[in-house]
Amino acid sequence: MKIIKNPKELKIYLKKMPQSIGFVPTMGALHEGHISLIQKAKKENEFIVVSIFVNPTQFAKNEDLSKYPNDTLRDEKICEMSGVDVLFYPDAKDIYGEDEVSVLAPNVRGFVLEGYTRPSHFNGVLTVVMKLFNIVKPDRAYFGKKDAQQLHLIQLMVKQLFMDVSIIPVDTMRESDGLAMSSRNVYLSKIQREQSLKISSSLNLARGLISKNIYDAKKIKQQMRQYLEPLEVYYVEVLDREFHTIDSVEIGNTLILVEVKVGDTRLLDNIWL
Ligand code: PAJ
Repeated sequence: MKIIKNPKELKIYLKKMPQSIGFVPTMGALHEGHISLIQKAKKENEFIVVSIFVNPTQFAKNEDLSKYPNDTLRDEKICEMSGVDVLFYPDAKDIYGEDEVSVLAPNVRGFVLEGYTRPSHFNGVLTVVMKLFNIVKPDRAYFGKKDAQQLHLIQLMVKQLFMDVSIIPVDTMRESDGLAMSSRNVYLSKIQREQSLKISSSLNLARGLISKNIYDAKKIKQQMRQYLEPLEVYYVEVLDREFHTIDSVEIGNTLILVEVKVGDTRLLDNIWL
């Protein structure tokens, strides 16, 4: 596995590659969710690039940028063992300059749900993903369904800006007790880890209601909120796949999304129906 830090060097290196490139952008602290993206990329491409970059522009000033978990050697080992060809590990100074041009998230879908409490977040995500795509020029790029809003906005950017990359969604990997894997799970104390199980079980509760033919979005949201108490709920939403609010679940075109705060940690999860 080759490790490259400099964007220009990576561009020159990849120019020589005749093969199809699969790309997995990450912020490191890799877990099995990330590995499942790499594995899917390996099945569908000849050459795999993973990036590790804790992108400062997607964190607000009061957020956890400085304490974001990082273990370079462990991440390198995971990439090596997963069969990654190039690990791209840039410094912020090589990605960002002064007086930056940036990509703006769409006015509505970029500023609801996660974007409501973190209004600069998706501008930062889209800008860095655009930069990474321009450096790597992948044929396919892999994103987790766990971050459904991020995935949707990246798909929208690629479509609306006529970009030449296929975005491949990957199912959410979970711990054996149901908690969605996340780099932020390491922040949880033992008690918080137990409390966080309510997130995936609230989604199972929604599934249960739907299996009893309760499709009414308001009822489902109410019961989920009640069940999630006393956790601080940022949102519980029932949306269609285009991220528009709907009154009634429509199988094949519905997402139920939840984000809560456990201690100081934001945890999100969702199901695709
Ligand atoms: P990060 O949180 O490191 O996640 C990298 C990728 O892994 C994302 O596509 C995310 O959806 C996916 N992922 C995380 N947990 C997962 C799980 N449990 N199962 C499956 N996939 C999972 O998301 C980011 O980084 C950043 O915003 C980034 C896109 C790299 C831009 O900076």
